[in-house]
Amino acid sequence: MLSAESIEKIEYELTKYPADQRQAAVMSALRIVQTERGWLSQECISEVAAYLRMPEIAAMEVATFYNMYDLEPVGKYKITVCTNISCMLRDSDAIVDHLQAKLGVGFNEVSADGKFCLKEGECMGACSGAPLMTVNNHTMYEFLTPESVDKILESLK
Ligand code: FES
Repeated sequence: MLSAESIEKIEYELTKYPADQRQAAVMSALRIVQTERGWLSQECISEVAAYLRMPEIAAMEVATFYNMYDLEPVGKYKITVCTNISCMLRDSDAIVDHLQAKLGVGFNEVSADGKFCLKEGECMGACSGAPLMTVNNHTMYEFLTPESVDKILESLK
């Protein structure tokens, strides 16, 4: 069941669209619920679809299309490293190698302590800060080096 806090936020998003176009708020609604619960279970997606009075399959299509939606648990911190062209040219591979060695996980895996999950990301539109990564979708770290990654990981413990 959607929490009162989530409903309040979804209702705010709904004010941005015509009353008969509730499904237009699906991306925001999924983001809100994911932020609250950590990831989107099938049940979460069903609840969002029901609240927006849209077909469940349509909400599922959105949730499975965008890689910022997590359909499995991702631990406390989801680290997404951009590996697209600008970041790759600025050696994102070294950042990925370093993170994998430090955390003991590959892409789409959660560390044994349940704290970290590593994801491969698409271009985040911030190429001038390459190489970069985000933590839990909302915090971006740019101009990464193995040393700066260590400091970031330390701050997350
Ligand atoms: S290629 Fe990494 S942010 Fe654009």
